[in-house]
Amino acid sequence: MTGNDFIKDFPVLMQKTGNGKRLAYLDSAATSQKPVSVIEAVEKYYKVNNANPHRGSYELSMKSTDVYENTREKVKEFLGAESSKNIIFTKNATEAFNLLASSYGMDFVNADDEIVISIAEHHSNLIPWQRVAKVKNASLKYMYINEDTQLTMKEVKEKITDKTKVVSITHVSNALGTINDIKSIIDYAHSKNAVVIVDGSQSVPHMKVDVSELDADFMVFSGHKMLAPMGIGVLYGKLDLLHKMSPYIYGGDMVEYVYEQDATFDAVPFKFEGGTQNVEGAAGLMAAIEYLENIGMDNVHAIEKELVKYTYEKLSELPYVKIYGTSDVDKRCGIISFNIDGVHPHDAASILDSHGVAVRSGNHCAQPLFRFMGENSVCRASFYFYNTKEDADQLIEAVKAAYAMFEKWR
Ligand SMILES: Cc1ncc(COP(=O)(O)O)c(C=O)c1O
Repeated sequence: MTGNDFIKDFPVLMQKTGNGKRLAYLDSAATSQKPVSVIEAVEKYYKVNNANPHRGSYELSMKSTDVYENTREKVKEFLGAESSKNIIFTKNATEAFNLLASSYGMDFVNADDEIVISIAEHHSNLIPWQRVAKVKNASLKYMYINEDTQLTMKEVKEKITDKTKVVSITHVSNALGTINDIKSIIDYAHSKNAVVIVDGSQSVPHMKVDVSELDADFMVFSGHKMLAPMGIGVLYGKLDLLHKMSPYIYGGDMVEYVYEQDATFDAVPFKFEGGTQNVEGAAGLMAAIEYLENIGMDNVHAIEKELVKYTYEKLSELPYVKIYGTSDVDKRCGIISFNIDGVHPHDAASILDSHGVAVRSGNHCAQPLFRFMGENSVCRASFYFYNTKEDADQLIEAVKAAYAMFEKWR
């Protein structure tokens, strides 16, 4: 299996760029492209099933509810969760982290407690904890990565202590692609009675992730990075924790009884889903998971690993390219961040774009990480199973061209 087997399913990938070049889309860590089956599932929802879910007692509303709830069941199976009650739909990973910080952090973190995160977190798994730490007089502690950008168990054991209430950590770094040994971190945090939140934004779309095997307390990810539409995300949580947490968004649909001065709330997961939900997003997420299941998550991972190895080797041959992240390709997901000597990453990204290569440049919503590494910004090429060796070759040629373009200033 290679990306060539799948490109035909992705209309965006079939088009040429504005300057007539074939498109090498290497920004799937930001958002993935969507296959026809997902686009059609959204269209079908509006043609056949659209009504407000959960509220109506008429047939169409019930059909809409079914679309939503069947997707919850699908996500439960995909993640290996115990029950569909473990699955809460959010807008995206960012909203899921805000929910956790607000409903778990504000309720259960107290003065002098510790919240432990890693220096490689996306801002969405960092800023909400800064707020909890400030409001609750708790401390926000960081686990730092080593020279090979890996988080060692030595560091983990030094930072997670008996005072740690929450450990919130990414499975895969969006900026460096490094895969954390998440199972060992979870086990150690549990030995200290801390609750562990895993940011699955860059792992769930790319590899088999089983929340029960990992024994994660919470897991967060966004649908749009795994073929689904934007605007639907997932928060998995263990039931005993979800039951004791306060709601996050208050209003319609999440209540049981409402009185003039008080209200009681619906059961988990509904108490966390106030207001009209993104049913079209759920319809798309269902089709997205079906598409991924048809390929098999192990195959998705294998295709990406092959591509990353190929690209890493080719880029390493260019003496003027600095690659960030671990040199152990087995510990790297489909992400390669790099800089070209003497070319600002934003310039590099524009030049690459003129060669039909879409990469992202900047600090990738991980400013503390780049400050720690002594860098301002990098270019990031991120792969998905629909990418090909031709995409990688196009990237390499464009990098050579970018370097050559700045030759006269050297
Ligand atoms: C590791 C990681 N966590 C969280 C997020 C936030 O995702 P979203 O913008 O979909 O909320 C991202 C997005 O890039 C990410 O890569």
